[in-house]
Amino acid sequence: MSDLRSVLGEALGEAFARAGLAASFGRVTASDRPDLADFQCNGALAAAKAAGRNPRELGQQVADALASDSRLEAVALAGPGFINLKVSTGALSARAAEIAADPRAGAALVDAPRRVLIDYGGPNVAKAMHVGHLRSSIIGEAVKRLYRLRGDEVIGDAHFGDWGFQMGLLIIAVFDEHPDIAARLGPLETDPAGFSDADRAAVDALLSAKIGLDDLDRLYPAAAARAKAEPPYRDRARRATAELQEGRFGYRLLWRHFHDVTRAALERDFHALGVDFDSWKGESDVNDLIGPMVEALRKKGLLVADEGAQIVRVAREGDKREVPPLLVVSSEGSAMYGTTDLATILDRRHTFDPALALYVVDQRQADHFETVFRAAELAGYARAGELEHVGFGTMNGPDGKPFKTREGGILKLRDLIEMTTAKARERLHEAGLGGALEPQAFEDTALKVAVATLKFADLSNFRGTSYVFDLERFSSFEGKTGPYLLYQAVRVKSLLRKAEEDGAAPGPIAIAEPAERELALALDGFEHALAEAYEKKAPHFVAEHAYRLAQTFSKFYAACPILTAPQAVRGSRLTLAAAALRQLQTALDVLGIATPERM
Ligand code: ARG
Repeated sequence: MSDLRSVLGEALGEAFARAGLAASFGRVTASDRPDLADFQCNGALAAAKAAGRNPRELGQQVADALASDSRLEAVALAGPGFINLKVSTGALSARAAEIAADPRAGAALVDAPRRVLIDYGGPNVAKAMHVGHLRSSIIGEAVKRLYRLRGDEVIGDAHFGDWGFQMGLLIIAVFDEHPDIAARLGPLETDPAGFSDADRAAVDALLSAKIGLDDLDRLYPAAAARAKAEPPYRDRARRATAELQEGRFGYRLLWRHFHDVTRAALERDFHALGVDFDSWKGESDVNDLIGPMVEALRKKGLLVADEGAQIVRVAREGDKREVPPLLVVSSEGSAMYGTTDLATILDRRHTFDPALALYVVDQRQADHFETVFRAAELAGYARAGELEHVGFGTMNGPDGKPFKTREGGILKLRDLIEMTTAKARERLHEAGLGGALEPQAFEDTALKVAVATLKFADLSNFRGTSYVFDLERFSSFEGKTGPYLLYQAVRVKSLLRKAEEDGAAPGPIAIAEPAERELALALDGFEHALAEAYEKKAPHFVAEHAYRLAQTFSKFYAACPILTAPQAVRGSRLTLAAAALRQLQTALDVLGIATPERM
């Protein structure tokens, strides 16, 4: 099953081939002049240039070859050699019927499915999430769903940041604040033979009573600031980090507690946002791979000593900018951020063995990934092209700088969701829905509107672009917003409910009116939008499509009466409406946006 655009592209390609030219000249795009044509092909111009022929004459030859194609109502030459195509109503009705009958709403599958790993989210223990994590979660979730919809086998991994310097900082901060914890855990250097399950339970109880998420949120920033100002404090934290990584038992017990407390809270916040990871592997999970990996790097002659540290140089001749070396072991003996990334590549090779790994991470980490990927290639852990950094710009505040709270602090994901949900409630009240819904349904709708607000605002821009967070505009029920799309979906749902109540049944599609044509063409455009988004790892193509589809449906609904139309027309329009709803929901689902029943 193919979209009209590809089918027509193939037909034109054959015509070019018969004229002795490359079939790729047959590429078809949506028409620049929808009033004149549905599709166009500009290939005759380039082809004529390449072959030293007259473009209009060549264009005419290709157009003539399609003159009797029953899928086309008109083939016309325009301007210097553009070929304009207008699809016949028969072909359009058939294609719309195909989409209406397709549970995948017209989305095709890739020919050769791959195993793809998506590394996204990247939250850290204790360190509050910032907008970079928010965007990573939103974009990564969309890329994951997109790849899955196209038939790839996909794993989304949170790559939980649970192993760096922040762990050492937290350990010493907790020990300083709680002498009883320090006295109990400090002396436990190795796993003592006598440490029983009861001992472990007692330690867990002590930690649970004293250290909650709020404490971590409070202790970490204070410790981080102190480490910046006081080198001895920083060195203590570095030593604690190294000892934790070497396996110091008491530190491991404390670390496990930090890990569990943070992860539970994060999973809850992510879930509220419609972001669910398949795997929560942490940086700590590859700790045991690091020793042997460092040895292997040394044997391969890749490791060099540099001011007390061990590094891998990755610069290449002809580099246009300086690519920093990979810092593998710090002078304190700690594994670094890049070390765990490299070991994680190795770990993934042994477990999931992906053909492609996409790292959906802030563009500002581009150098880091360039370094890690090159080191992985040198070490033989991955081939060129198997690892790809999918970068993105920042979400900014009105000052044009990365979004902060009003107090100037780092934004917490749960505060952002709360703030956006409060706005959604306000909007729903404005729309007069306050009393119309049961309290539970109202809350559920408000959360869905909030998620749609945040995600659509983010995903409607090309990911590389930075944007200004404007809650007032993003939450509006009108314009290019998430709530507008939900509102359109809800309108179709209620139309279909009403039709069912009236006993009006859907029937075969017969396209006649211009607004029906337009809707059928919009439905056909889904496949191309998905293909582009897939190839460029850019969900905004899907967001664009969802918006265009919603608008086209809205025009259709205004121009073409449905429930009051004669039976055959009504049946056709109901089928079209149901297809539009399913496709809109499929597109929104790729974006990670769920639609409410009423709004
Ligand atoms: N935890 C990191 C941070 O907060 C992001 C992790 C991104 N993924 C990766 N494989 N390095 O910046």
